[in-house]
Amino acid sequence: MELNGKTAVVTGSAKGIGKAIAEKLAIQGANIAVVDMDEESSRDTVLQLKNFDVKVSGYFLDLKEVERIKKLYLSIIDDFGSFDIVVNAAGIIKVNKFLEVTPDDWDVVMDLNAKSLFFSMQEAAINMIKHGKGGRIINISSITGKASRPDYPVYAASKASIISTTRSAATALAKYKINVNAVCPGYVHTSMWDHIDDHYVSKFNRPKGEVIEKMLNSIPLQRSGELHEIASLVAYLASSEASYITGQAINVDGGAIMY
Ligand SMILES: NC(=O)c1ccc[n+]([C@@H]2O[C@H](COP(=O)([O-])OP(=O)(O)OC[C@H]3O[C@@H](n4cnc5c(N)ncnc54)[C@H](O)[C@@H]3O)[C@@H](O)[C@H]2O)c1
Repeated sequence: MELNGKTAVVTGSAKGIGKAIAEKLAIQGANIAVVDMDEESSRDTVLQLKNFDVKVSGYFLDLKEVERIKKLYLSIIDDFGSFDIVVNAAGIIKVNKFLEVTPDDWDVVMDLNAKSLFFSMQEAAINMIKHGKGGRIINISSITGKASRPDYPVYAASKASIISTTRSAATALAKYKINVNAVCPGYVHTSMWDHIDDHYVSKFNRPKGEVIEKMLNSIPLQRSGELHEIASLVAYLASSEASYITGQAINVDGGAIMY
C-alpha cells in the first residue's frame, strides 16, 4: 500500500470531509492521529479506523486555542515517533450577510479557519524539519476562497487566506522537501450544509433546501461532490506520485468554478 509506515495527522477528522480523508489514508496504510474538538464522534472515528489495521490515536481540543497546538504535535510525536502528512481539515462557517457581519463573527471564523490552520502548518513544519524526512501538508480550503460569497463573506475570506498561506508555506518549505497544497472542494453534503440551509431558513426566510438546490443547479456536472472524491485528491497529494506538486489550490467541484 502506498502509505504503509507513514503517519498522518488529520484535523477535523471526527466527521465529514476530514473523516473521509482519514479513512482513505488509513486504507492506504497510514497510521492516523485524529484531531478534533468533538470527543464523542472522534472516539467513534478512532474505533472505525482501527479496523484498517493501522495505529490510531485521538486528540481532543479546540484548535482555536492556538497556544495548545505546539503541545498537540509534541503529544503526537510522543505517540507515533514522527509524522509525514498533515491534513488541516477542521473548519467552520457562519452565514452572515456582508452588511451584518460583526467583529465577533469575523473572529470566530478567522480564528479557526485562518489563524489556527496557519499555526498548525507552522508547528507541523517545525517538526518535519527537525525530523529531516520532508513531508506533505494539505490544507482544505474551498472554492469560496476564489469566488464572491455575499452571504458568508468571512468564511470566503478565511478560505482565501488558506490559499495564500499555502503558497507562502510551499515556497518557504520547499528546500526542506515539504510540499504544501490546498484542496478546494465545491458542494459536498455534510453537517456544514445542514447548518447553512438552517440559516437560510431562520435568518433569510428562505424555503428549506432552496440554497442547496440553487447550488446544485450551478454545477456543470449537476450533482454534489462525494466525500471520497475529496479524499481521493488528498490521498494523491500525500502519495509519492505527487512529488512535483506544491503551492497549488486544486478544485474538486464538478466544474462549479474553473480557475
Ligand atoms: N462541505 C462542503 O461542501 C465543503 C466545501 C468546501 C470546503 N469545505 C471545508 O471542508 C472542511 C470540513 O468540512 P465539513 O463539511 O466536513 O464540515 P463538518 O462540520 O462536517 O466537519 C468539521 C469538523 O471540524 C471539527 N471542528 C470544528 N471546529 C473545530 C475546532 N475549533 N477545533 C477542532 N475541531 C473542530 C468538527 O468537530 C467536525 O468534526 C472544512 O474546512 C470546510 O470549510 C467543506
